[in-house]
Amino acid sequence: MSITVFGSVNLDLTVSVDRMPEPGVTSHATGFLKGLGGKGANQAVAATKLAKGPVRFVAAVGADAFGDSLRASLDGLGVDTSDLVTMPEHDSGIALIHVDATSQNTITVVGGANMAWSSEGPDDRCFESCKVALFQLETPQDATIAAMRKARAAGATVILDPAPIASSGMDALLAEADIITPNETEAAGLSGIKPTSLEEALDVARSLCSRGPGTVIVKLGSKGLAYACKDGQGGVIASFKVDAIDTVAAGDSFNGGLAVALSEGMPLDAALRFASAAGALATTKKGASEAVPDRTAVDGLLSD
Ligand code: RIB
Repeated sequence: MSITVFGSVNLDLTVSVDRMPEPGVTSHATGFLKGLGGKGANQAVAATKLAKGPVRFVAAVGADAFGDSLRASLDGLGVDTSDLVTMPEHDSGIALIHVDATSQNTITVVGGANMAWSSEGPDDRCFESCKVALFQLETPQDATIAAMRKARAAGATVILDPAPIASSGMDALLAEADIITPNETEAAGLSGIKPTSLEEALDVARSLCSRGPGTVIVKLGSKGLAYACKDGQGGVIASFKVDAIDTVAAGDSFNGGLAVALSEGMPLDAALRFASAAGALATTKKGASEAVPDRTAVDGLLSD
């Protein structure tokens, strides 16, 4: 196994709206989508579609009809579901998503089975022969920290997407990560400063490097990204120009792409371009896991 993703799987219920709802207002949606989501599942789908080697997805669904349908969707997208456990007495995770006419989104997650992991996290076996391991924060913090430690002990590079950002406990998570990939909101939650330009993002990335991770990548969506490493390496990378219609799972595709690129031994700047291409392409389609691009599309955008 070269890549392991430990994380969430949700049934996404997505409504398209002209503008985000305000309190007390009832409005008509312009569209509806039901599909496979969850930051972990989206990252696992991205890694599976982009990687040349095997990808392991370690996650939990509830003992309900949604769980059966999520498992079938993962199977349909080629994800190995051998480590997808069913948590008795829990519902499957659900995400309620609004996407507005400017392609921005808001997401509310009901964790369900994703939050039912014990503090030991998944078995050590899940990280055997793992080169790169991916984590996010839709699973309990203690289980996630335990899993990150197991991945590190197995010799893997540990990538943490600190999303959704938590109001406490972040330092313990950062201490276990080799690489973190916050967006501007998560960077603000970690540093107290919301970067609005690539120059500001670079400053934030440099300051976050002192909190544990060897590499910090601050993603600013269509503006591009800034990265900083403890060894002094760092810089900014412009985004790929695409016609974005839905930004859901763009960050997840980025992380899946980054894991694949690093597992193939690409240098960091090339890996970041590969990941950026994957993230950009995900915005050109509606939905979450369904919007994740494949290798041919990413290689095509990189060679344009
Ligand atoms: O990052 C997008 C994902 O966040 C959605 O698929 C939703 O399920 C939430 O986990």
